[in-house]
Amino acid sequence: MNVLIIGGGGREHALAAKIVESPQCDKLFIAPGNPGTAKVGENVNLDSKDVPKIVEFCNFNKIKLVVVGPEQPLVDGLADELRDNHIAVFGPGKDGAQIEGDKAFSKQMMFGYKIPTADFVRFKRENHDAALEYLNMKEYPVVIKATGLAAGKGVLICENFEEAKKALSDIFVDSIFGVSGDAVVIEEFLKGEEASIFVITDGKDYQILPASQDHKRIGDNDTGKNTGGMGAYAPAPVMSSMALQCVDMEIIQPTMEALWDKEIDYRGCIYIGLMITKDGPKVIEYNCRFGDPETQVVLPLLEGDFLELLKSAAYGKLNKECCVYKTGTAICVVASAGGYPDAYEKGDEISGLETVEDDSIYVYHAGTKAENEKIVTNGGRVLGVTAIIKDNDIKLCKTKAYEAISKINFKGIHFRKDISDKAFNKTPFI
Ligand code: AMP
Ligand code: GLY
Repeated sequence: MNVLIIGGGGREHALAAKIVESPQCDKLFIAPGNPGTAKVGENVNLDSKDVPKIVEFCNFNKIKLVVVGPEQPLVDGLADELRDNHIAVFGPGKDGAQIEGDKAFSKQMMFGYKIPTADFVRFKRENHDAALEYLNMKEYPVVIKATGLAAGKGVLICENFEEAKKALSDIFVDSIFGVSGDAVVIEEFLKGEEASIFVITDGKDYQILPASQDHKRIGDNDTGKNTGGMGAYAPAPVMSSMALQCVDMEIIQPTMEALWDKEIDYRGCIYIGLMITKDGPKVIEYNCRFGDPETQVVLPLLEGDFLELLKSAAYGKLNKECCVYKTGTAICVVASAGGYPDAYEKGDEISGLETVEDDSIYVYHAGTKAENEKIVTNGGRVLGVTAIIKDNDIKLCKTKAYEAISKINFKGIHFRKDISDKAFNKTPFI
């Protein structure tokens, strides 16, 4: 079977590396891909917005499955258009992608189905004054979120009224998030430990993949600015079997029921961002796709035919036995360009890549580019080094990951030194 992956980051490299292991995979294309995906498949220059070109490519190359990596093409309706052209897709249509693309929609859905989440109120741009009045009465911190997509930057945590007033003015008056900030949700701040869960579904049945934990801030001990994610590990011990049971019953089952009731035929991955609080797990957000860098630690741990799992979801008959987690630990440390998440340089040569990979180390490319037979930096998050071991020994896995990343270098390289440390001092809330 021939497969096309849409996207070009570390997540798509991890998807490609896992899909190509399947005995069912004949030819794998990645659009646009990166130098890492070029080693496992063929990169093709297709724009995710150019639907006629993608359809033509799929027909010509007999593509039996398209896997959409990022959220934007899903929110824009790429999966619907491909399905209209009889091409199977792993990824929800526009209706399902609202769980990420419209925070007001997802909060209403959670409210309607009693899915535990932070208390919230929604305000439109024209109700700026009412929002200020509301903020004046609140206890702090509060969280203000633009309701539309904002490239992972639409969440502002405010410590006091002054900060909240400024945040609201930034969104409503200065329009820092454009039309994505036409409305906001103002949320209660949740305390606890975060975890990410991927749920693979064909719209009816579902399979839960092992929980992981992302590290959003740029600096050690969760300091500095938010980023796309600086590292992850799986499985995350904070997700005890009791917590997972609770997530399944109180969050995943009602989420599936809500989608069903809304007649949303969701075929893809539901990523649930959770806060494990002292009152139990609560939803921070839904995403309509796999997470990055969580994919780089969850997928290497799965045994069996991953392509079959995605294909069976896309074709509406989930095969739950074909790909499962049995044992093992994975840690991914992301190397970013100096300055990221603010302005950073591109075009610096990356050294050491050829020496680090072995059976237990995989380097996932993200912001890299091939130039004159060299690999150079080409983005904020440049690459992720994942260590994978058979045992459930996070300390050993961490040592391996850091040994490997220390052999890679480029001008201004930055990586956190504490990825996975939270696993050791976790407080089991439930
Ligand atoms: P998001 O861009 O929605 O993934 O949010 C970015 C980060 O903001 C999350 O990973 C959390 O660390 C934090 N966050 C979002 N909502 C809340 C909340 N209600 N309470 C506490 N932290 C939050
Ligand atoms: N790692 C966070 C995300 O993919 O949204």
